[in-house]
Amino acid sequence: MRALVTGVAGFLGSTLAEALRKQGFDVVGVDAFTENYEPSRKRANLAGLLRDPGFRLVEADLRTASLAPLFEGVTHVAHLAALPGVRASWGEAFREYAEHNILGTQRVLEAARDRSLTSVAVASSSSVYGVPTRFPTPEGETPRPISPYGVTKLATEALAHAYRRETGIPTVALRYFTVYGPRQRPDMGFHRFFEAARRGEAVTVYGDGRQTRDFTYVDDAVTATMASLRQRTPEFAYNVGGGHRVTLNEVLDLMEGIVGRRIERRHVEDQRGDPRDTASDTTLARRDLGFTPRTTLEAGLARQWEWQRNV
Ligand code: NAD
Ligand code: UGA
Repeated sequence: MRALVTGVAGFLGSTLAEALRKQGFDVVGVDAFTENYEPSRKRANLAGLLRDPGFRLVEADLRTASLAPLFEGVTHVAHLAALPGVRASWGEAFREYAEHNILGTQRVLEAARDRSLTSVAVASSSSVYGVPTRFPTPEGETPRPISPYGVTKLATEALAHAYRRETGIPTVALRYFTVYGPRQRPDMGFHRFFEAARRGEAVTVYGDGRQTRDFTYVDDAVTATMASLRQRTPEFAYNVGGGHRVTLNEVLDLMEGIVGRRIERRHVEDQRGDPRDTASDTTLARRDLGFTPRTTLEAGLARQWEWQRNV
Protein backbone atom coordinates (compact mmCIF):
# COMPACT_ATOMS: atom_id res chain seq x y z
CA MET A 1 0.00 0.00 0.00
CA ARG A 2 1.38 3.34 -1.00
CA ALA A 3 -0.36 6.63 -0.23
CA LEU A 4 0.17 9.92 -2.00
CA VAL A 5 -0.50 12.85 0.35
CA THR A 6 -0.68 16.33 -1.19
CA GLY A 7 -0.09 19.27 1.14
CA VAL A 8 2.01 16.91 3.25
CA ALA A 9 3.95 19.64 5.03
CA GLY A 10 0.80 21.30 6.34
CA PHE A 11 -1.11 20.92 9.59
CA LEU A 12 -3.41 18.11 8.48
CA GLY A 13 -1.14 16.60 5.81
CA SER A 14 1.85 16.01 8.08
CA THR A 15 -0.33 14.51 10.82
CA LEU A 16 -2.06 12.22 8.32
CA ALA A 17 1.23 11.10 6.77
CA GLU A 18 2.55 10.08 10.20
CA ALA A 19 -0.62 8.11 10.90
CA LEU A 20 -0.40 6.37 7.51
CA ARG A 21 3.17 5.33 8.21
CA LYS A 22 2.08 3.84 11.54
CA GLN A 23 -0.51 1.79 9.64
CA GLY A 24 2.17 0.38 7.33
CA PHE A 25 1.65 2.56 4.24
CA ASP A 26 4.59 3.80 2.21
CA VAL A 27 3.99 7.52 1.86
CA VAL A 28 4.91 9.84 -0.98
CA GLY A 29 4.27 13.40 0.13
CA VAL A 30 4.11 16.43 -2.13
CA ASP A 31 4.20 20.06 -1.05
CA ALA A 32 5.12 23.41 -2.60
CA PHE A 33 5.86 25.11 0.74
CA THR A 34 3.61 28.02 -0.19
CA GLU A 35 3.84 31.25 1.78
CA ASN A 36 0.42 31.29 3.44
CA TYR A 37 2.55 30.97 6.59
CA GLU A 38 6.26 30.56 7.22
CA PRO A 39 7.60 27.60 5.22
CA SER A 40 9.99 26.95 8.14
CA ARG A 41 6.98 25.83 10.20
CA LYS A 42 6.04 23.40 7.44
CA ARG A 43 9.60 22.03 7.36
CA ALA A 44 9.41 21.55 11.13
CA ASN A 45 6.17 19.57 10.68
CA LEU A 46 8.12 17.11 8.51
CA ALA A 47 11.11 16.68 10.81
CA GLY A 48 10.13 13.17 11.99
CA LEU A 49 8.93 11.94 8.60
CA LEU A 50 12.14 12.97 6.86
CA ARG A 51 14.08 10.55 9.07
CA ASP A 52 11.76 7.71 8.06
CA PRO A 53 12.86 5.61 5.04
CA GLY A 54 9.21 4.77 4.29
CA PHE A 55 8.51 8.42 3.53
CA ARG A 56 9.53 10.35 0.43
CA LEU A 57 9.07 14.10 -0.02
CA VAL A 58 8.61 15.64 -3.45
CA GLU A 59 8.77 19.42 -3.52
CA ALA A 60 6.48 20.38 -6.36
CA ASP A 61 3.62 22.72 -7.18
CA LEU A 62 0.43 20.93 -8.23
CA ARG A 63 -0.51 23.84 -10.48
CA THR A 64 2.41 23.26 -12.82
CA ALA A 65 4.40 20.10 -12.05
CA SER A 66 4.23 16.95 -14.09
CA LEU A 67 2.13 14.78 -11.79
CA ALA A 68 2.18 11.34 -13.42
CA PRO A 69 5.52 10.30 -11.82
CA LEU A 70 4.09 10.99 -8.34
CA PHE A 71 1.45 8.30 -8.87
CA GLU A 72 3.87 5.44 -9.53
CA GLY A 73 2.85 2.48 -7.37
CA VAL A 74 0.29 4.59 -5.54
CA THR A 75 -2.84 2.84 -4.25
CA HIS A 76 -4.44 5.58 -2.13
CA VAL A 77 -4.54 9.38 -2.49
CA ALA A 78 -5.28 12.08 0.09
CA HIS A 79 -5.50 15.45 -1.62
CA LEU A 80 -5.16 18.06 1.09
CA ALA A 81 -3.09 20.73 -0.66
CA ALA A 82 -4.94 24.01 -0.88
CA LEU A 83 -4.80 27.63 0.10
CA PRO A 84 -6.89 27.54 3.30
CA GLY A 85 -8.39 30.31 5.42
CA VAL A 86 -11.78 31.95 5.06
CA ARG A 87 -11.16 35.60 5.84
CA ALA A 88 -8.15 36.19 3.56
CA SER A 89 -9.90 34.99 0.42
CA TRP A 90 -11.53 38.25 -0.70
CA GLY A 91 -10.16 40.69 -3.29
CA GLU A 92 -7.01 40.08 -5.28
CA ALA A 93 -6.14 37.01 -3.20
CA PHE A 94 -8.93 35.09 -4.89
CA ARG A 95 -6.79 34.41 -7.95
CA GLU A 96 -4.41 32.38 -5.79
CA TYR A 97 -7.27 30.57 -4.06
CA ALA A 98 -8.75 29.63 -7.42
CA GLU A 99 -5.43 28.42 -8.79
CA HIS A 100 -4.38 26.31 -5.80
CA ASN A 101 -7.79 24.96 -4.90
CA ILE A 102 -9.51 24.52 -8.27
CA LEU A 103 -6.78 24.16 -10.89
CA GLY A 104 -4.57 22.18 -8.48
CA THR A 105 -7.41 19.76 -7.77
CA GLN A 106 -8.30 19.32 -11.43
CA ARG A 107 -4.69 18.44 -12.25
CA VAL A 108 -4.52 15.88 -9.42
CA LEU A 109 -7.76 14.24 -10.58
CA GLU A 110 -6.64 14.18 -14.19
CA ALA A 111 -3.41 12.45 -13.13
CA ALA A 112 -5.44 9.94 -11.06
CA ARG A 113 -7.43 8.72 -14.08
CA ASP A 114 -7.02 5.18 -15.40
CA ARG A 115 -5.14 3.98 -12.35
CA SER A 116 -5.95 1.27 -9.93
CA LEU A 117 -6.73 3.31 -6.82
CA THR A 118 -8.68 2.23 -3.76
CA SER A 119 -9.72 5.72 -2.75
CA VAL A 120 -9.01 9.38 -3.44
CA ALA A 121 -9.96 11.51 -0.43
CA VAL A 122 -10.28 15.22 -1.13
CA ALA A 123 -10.29 17.88 1.61
CA SER A 124 -13.45 19.91 1.60
CA SER A 125 -14.74 22.17 4.35
CA SER A 126 -17.66 23.15 6.53
CA SER A 127 -17.37 26.48 4.76
CA VAL A 128 -19.28 25.04 1.78
CA TYR A 129 -22.49 25.32 3.84
CA GLY A 130 -22.38 29.09 4.42
CA VAL A 131 -25.49 29.80 6.47
CA PRO A 132 -27.26 26.43 6.60
CA THR A 133 -30.93 26.00 7.38
CA ARG A 134 -30.37 23.07 9.74
CA PHE A 135 -28.19 22.59 12.85
CA PRO A 136 -26.60 20.10 13.07
CA THR A 137 -26.18 20.24 9.30
CA PRO A 138 -26.47 17.04 7.25
CA GLU A 139 -24.61 16.53 3.97
CA GLY A 140 -27.87 16.86 2.04
CA GLU A 141 -28.08 20.57 2.89
CA THR A 142 -27.77 22.70 -0.26
CA PRO A 143 -24.27 24.21 -0.11
CA ARG A 144 -24.29 28.01 -0.37
CA PRO A 145 -20.84 29.28 0.65
CA ILE A 146 -20.54 32.89 1.83
CA SER A 147 -16.79 33.32 1.30
CA PRO A 148 -14.66 33.11 -1.85
CA TYR A 149 -12.65 30.38 -0.09
CA GLY A 150 -15.84 28.38 0.49
CA VAL A 151 -16.66 28.76 -3.19
CA THR A 152 -13.29 27.26 -4.14
CA LYS A 153 -13.82 24.31 -1.76
CA LEU A 154 -17.24 23.71 -3.29
CA ALA A 155 -15.57 23.74 -6.71
CA THR A 156 -12.96 21.28 -5.38
CA GLU A 157 -15.80 18.98 -4.38
CA ALA A 158 -17.69 19.46 -7.62
CA LEU A 159 -14.62 18.44 -9.62
CA ALA A 160 -14.10 15.38 -7.42
CA HIS A 161 -17.73 14.46 -7.96
CA ALA A 162 -17.54 14.88 -11.73
CA TYR A 163 -14.45 12.65 -11.92
CA ARG A 164 -16.09 10.04 -9.65
CA ARG A 165 -19.18 9.90 -11.82
CA GLU A 166 -17.67 10.17 -15.26
CA THR A 167 -14.27 8.47 -14.94
CA GLY A 168 -14.86 6.12 -12.03
CA ILE A 169 -12.10 7.54 -9.80
CA PRO A 170 -13.19 6.56 -6.26
CA THR A 171 -13.21 10.10 -4.88
CA VAL A 172 -14.68 11.13 -1.54
CA ALA A 173 -15.08 14.67 -0.18
CA LEU A 174 -14.40 15.18 3.52
CA ARG A 175 -16.02 18.29 4.94
CA TYR A 176 -13.73 19.06 7.88
CA PHE A 177 -15.08 21.37 10.57
CA THR A 178 -12.53 23.83 12.07
CA VAL A 179 -9.65 21.54 13.01
CA TYR A 180 -7.31 22.26 15.94
CA GLY A 181 -4.48 20.62 17.85
CA PRO A 182 -0.67 20.49 17.57
CA ARG A 183 0.63 22.11 14.32
CA GLN A 184 -2.51 24.16 13.83
CA ARG A 185 -1.90 26.92 11.27
CA PRO A 186 -0.78 30.22 12.80
CA ASP A 187 -3.61 32.15 11.11
CA MET A 188 -6.28 30.08 12.90
CA GLY A 189 -8.19 31.17 15.99
CA PHE A 190 -6.84 28.81 18.69
CA HIS A 191 -3.27 29.28 17.55
CA ARG A 192 -3.64 33.06 17.71
CA PHE A 193 -5.34 32.91 21.10
CA PHE A 194 -2.67 30.70 22.69
CA GLU A 195 0.05 32.82 21.10
CA ALA A 196 -1.43 36.00 22.60
CA ALA A 197 -1.79 34.26 25.97
CA ARG A 198 1.84 33.16 25.83
CA ARG A 199 2.96 36.74 25.26
CA GLY A 200 0.56 38.19 27.78
CA GLU A 201 -1.21 40.17 25.04
CA ALA A 202 -4.94 40.67 24.41
CA VAL A 203 -6.67 38.37 21.92
CA THR A 204 -8.73 39.80 19.08
CA VAL A 205 -12.23 38.35 19.00
CA TYR A 206 -14.27 38.93 15.86
CA GLY A 207 -17.75 39.96 16.96
CA ASP A 208 -19.30 39.22 20.34
CA GLY A 209 -17.59 35.84 20.85
CA ARG A 210 -20.92 34.05 20.90
CA GLN A 211 -20.43 32.55 17.45
CA THR A 212 -20.15 28.76 17.58
CA ARG A 213 -17.93 26.22 15.86
CA ASP A 214 -17.99 22.44 15.85
CA PHE A 215 -14.26 22.25 16.59
CA THR A 216 -12.55 19.01 15.55
CA TYR A 217 -9.38 17.59 17.08
CA VAL A 218 -6.76 16.83 14.42
CA ASP A 219 -6.35 13.13 15.32
CA ASP A 220 -10.09 12.63 14.96
CA ALA A 221 -10.03 14.29 11.53
CA VAL A 222 -7.10 12.07 10.56
CA THR A 223 -8.86 8.91 11.78
CA ALA A 224 -11.87 9.72 9.60
CA THR A 225 -9.59 10.38 6.65
CA MET A 226 -7.83 7.04 7.11
CA ALA A 227 -11.18 5.24 7.22
CA SER A 228 -12.26 6.95 3.98
CA LEU A 229 -9.06 5.76 2.31
CA ARG A 230 -9.62 2.08 3.05
CA GLN A 231 -12.64 1.70 0.76
CA ARG A 232 -14.60 3.16 -2.09
CA THR A 233 -17.13 4.96 0.09
CA PRO A 234 -20.86 4.48 -0.48
CA GLU A 235 -21.47 8.24 -0.23
CA PHE A 236 -19.57 11.00 -1.97
CA ALA A 237 -19.48 13.61 0.84
CA TYR A 238 -19.02 13.22 4.61
CA ASN A 239 -19.04 15.72 7.44
CA VAL A 240 -16.04 15.36 9.72
CA GLY A 241 -16.85 17.32 12.86
CA GLY A 242 -15.79 17.03 16.48
CA GLY A 243 -19.33 16.82 17.78
CA HIS A 244 -19.13 19.55 20.40
CA ARG A 245 -20.42 22.91 19.35
CA VAL A 246 -19.21 25.69 21.61
CA THR A 247 -18.93 29.47 21.58
CA LEU A 248 -15.59 31.24 21.28
CA ASN A 249 -16.21 32.75 24.71
CA GLU A 250 -16.45 29.26 26.18
CA VAL A 251 -13.23 28.25 24.43
CA LEU A 252 -11.43 31.28 25.84
CA ASP A 253 -12.68 30.43 29.33
CA LEU A 254 -11.25 26.92 28.96
CA MET A 255 -7.98 28.32 27.65
CA GLU A 256 -7.64 30.53 30.71
CA GLY A 257 -7.81 27.41 32.87
CA ILE A 258 -5.16 25.70 30.75
CA VAL A 259 -2.65 28.56 30.58
CA GLY A 260 -3.36 29.53 34.19
CA ARG A 261 -4.00 33.22 33.67
CA ARG A 262 -6.67 35.62 32.49
CA ILE A 263 -6.80 36.27 28.76
CA GLU A 264 -7.80 39.82 27.90
CA ARG A 265 -10.33 39.96 25.05
CA ARG A 266 -10.53 42.80 22.55
CA HIS A 267 -13.71 42.62 20.50
CA VAL A 268 -13.69 43.98 16.95
CA GLU A 269 -16.27 43.80 14.15
CA ASP A 270 -17.44 40.50 12.59
CA GLN A 271 -15.46 39.39 9.56
CA ARG A 272 -16.94 39.09 6.08
CA GLY A 273 -17.46 35.49 5.04
CA ASP A 274 -17.30 33.99 8.55
CA PRO A 275 -20.31 31.76 9.16
CA ARG A 276 -21.92 32.61 12.49
CA ASP A 277 -22.33 28.96 13.49
CA THR A 278 -21.25 25.51 12.34
CA ALA A 279 -22.46 22.13 13.56
CA SER A 280 -21.90 18.80 11.85
CA ASP A 281 -24.38 15.98 11.58
CA THR A 282 -21.98 13.03 11.46
CA THR A 283 -24.55 10.25 11.01
CA LEU A 284 -23.10 9.22 7.65
CA ALA A 285 -19.49 9.26 8.81
CA ARG A 286 -20.46 7.17 11.82
CA ARG A 287 -22.31 4.66 9.64
CA ASP A 288 -19.80 4.31 6.79
CA LEU A 289 -16.45 5.30 8.32
CA GLY A 290 -17.02 4.14 11.89
CA PHE A 291 -16.29 7.74 12.88
CA THR A 292 -16.63 8.65 16.55
CA PRO A 293 -14.68 11.71 17.65
CA ARG A 294 -12.69 10.68 20.74
CA THR A 295 -11.03 13.86 21.94
CA THR A 296 -12.76 16.24 24.33
CA LEU A 297 -12.22 19.93 23.76
CA GLU A 298 -10.45 20.21 27.13
CA ALA A 299 -7.98 17.43 26.28
CA GLY A 300 -7.42 18.69 22.73
CA LEU A 301 -6.79 22.25 23.86
CA ALA A 302 -4.32 21.06 26.48
CA ARG A 303 -2.40 19.15 23.81
CA GLN A 304 -2.32 22.14 21.48
CA TRP A 305 -1.05 24.35 24.32
CA GLU A 306 1.61 21.77 25.23
CA TRP A 307 2.85 21.85 21.64
CA GLN A 308 2.55 25.59 21.15
CA ARG A 309 4.31 26.67 24.32
CA ASN A 310 7.35 24.64 23.20
CA VAL A 311 7.70 25.71 19.54
P1 NAD B 1 -1.99 24.00 5.56
O1 NAD B 1 -1.81 25.33 4.89
O2 NAD B 1 -1.28 23.78 6.85
O3 NAD B 1 -1.60 22.82 4.57
C1 NAD B 1 -1.80 22.89 3.18
C2 NAD B 1 -0.47 22.55 2.50
O4 NAD B 1 -0.68 22.51 1.08
C3 NAD B 1 0.63 23.57 2.76
O5 NAD B 1 1.76 22.93 3.33
C4 NAD B 1 0.95 24.15 1.36
O6 NAD B 1 2.32 24.46 1.20
C5 NAD B 1 0.47 23.04 0.44
N1 NAD B 1 0.08 23.53 -0.88
C6 NAD B 1 -0.82 24.51 -1.16
N2 NAD B 1 -0.93 24.69 -2.48
C7 NAD B 1 -0.10 23.78 -3.07
C8 NAD B 1 0.22 23.47 -4.42
N3 NAD B 1 -0.30 24.17 -5.44
N4 NAD B 1 1.09 22.45 -4.66
C9 NAD B 1 1.63 21.76 -3.62
N5 NAD B 1 1.37 22.02 -2.32
C10 NAD B 1 0.53 23.02 -2.05
O7 NAD B 1 -3.57 23.80 5.76
P2 NAD B 1 -4.41 22.74 6.63
O8 NAD B 1 -5.09 23.50 7.70
O9 NAD B 1 -3.54 21.57 6.93
O10 NAD B 1 -5.53 22.32 5.57
C11 NAD B 1 -5.40 21.14 4.79
C12 NAD B 1 -6.64 20.98 3.92
O11 NAD B 1 -7.80 20.85 4.72
C13 NAD B 1 -6.92 22.15 2.99
O12 NAD B 1 -7.45 21.62 1.79
C14 NAD B 1 -7.99 22.95 3.72
O13 NAD B 1 -8.78 23.70 2.82
C15 NAD B 1 -8.76 21.84 4.37
N6 NAD B 1 -9.49 22.20 5.58
C16 NAD B 1 -8.81 22.57 6.71
C17 NAD B 1 -9.51 22.87 7.87
C18 NAD B 1 -8.82 23.29 9.12
O14 NAD B 1 -9.54 23.60 10.09
N7 NAD B 1 -7.48 23.30 9.19
C19 NAD B 1 -10.89 22.77 7.88
C20 NAD B 1 -11.57 22.42 6.70
C21 NAD B 1 -10.84 22.12 5.58
C1 UGA C 1 -11.26 27.01 9.62
C2 UGA C 1 -10.09 26.89 8.63
O1 UGA C 1 -9.21 28.00 8.75
C3 UGA C 1 -10.56 26.81 7.21
O2 UGA C 1 -9.45 26.50 6.37
C4 UGA C 1 -11.59 25.71 7.15
O3 UGA C 1 -12.03 25.49 5.87
C5 UGA C 1 -12.74 26.00 8.10
O4 UGA C 1 -12.19 26.01 9.42
C6 UGA C 1 -13.81 24.95 8.04
O5 UGA C 1 -14.28 24.48 9.06
O6 UGA C 1 -14.23 24.64 6.94
P1 UGA C 1 -12.50 29.01 10.78
O7 UGA C 1 -13.71 28.33 11.29
O8 UGA C 1 -12.60 30.46 10.42
O9 UGA C 1 -11.91 28.27 9.50
O10 UGA C 1 -11.35 28.75 11.87
P2 UGA C 1 -10.54 29.70 12.82
O11 UGA C 1 -9.63 30.61 12.08
O12 UGA C 1 -9.94 28.84 13.86
O13 UGA C 1 -11.67 30.62 13.49
C7 UGA C 1 -12.59 30.11 14.42
C8 UGA C 1 -13.43 31.24 14.97
O14 UGA C 1 -12.58 32.14 15.68
C9 UGA C 1 -14.13 32.07 13.90
O15 UGA C 1 -15.40 32.44 14.37
C10 UGA C 1 -13.27 33.33 13.80
O16 UGA C 1 -14.01 34.49 13.43
C11 UGA C 1 -12.75 33.47 15.20
N1 UGA C 1 -11.45 34.17 15.30
C12 UGA C 1 -10.39 33.72 14.61
C13 UGA C 1 -11.34 35.27 16.11
O17 UGA C 1 -12.33 35.73 16.75
N2 UGA C 1 -10.14 35.91 16.21
C14 UGA C 1 -9.04 35.48 15.53
O18 UGA C 1 -7.96 36.10 15.66
C15 UGA C 1 -9.17 34.35 14.71
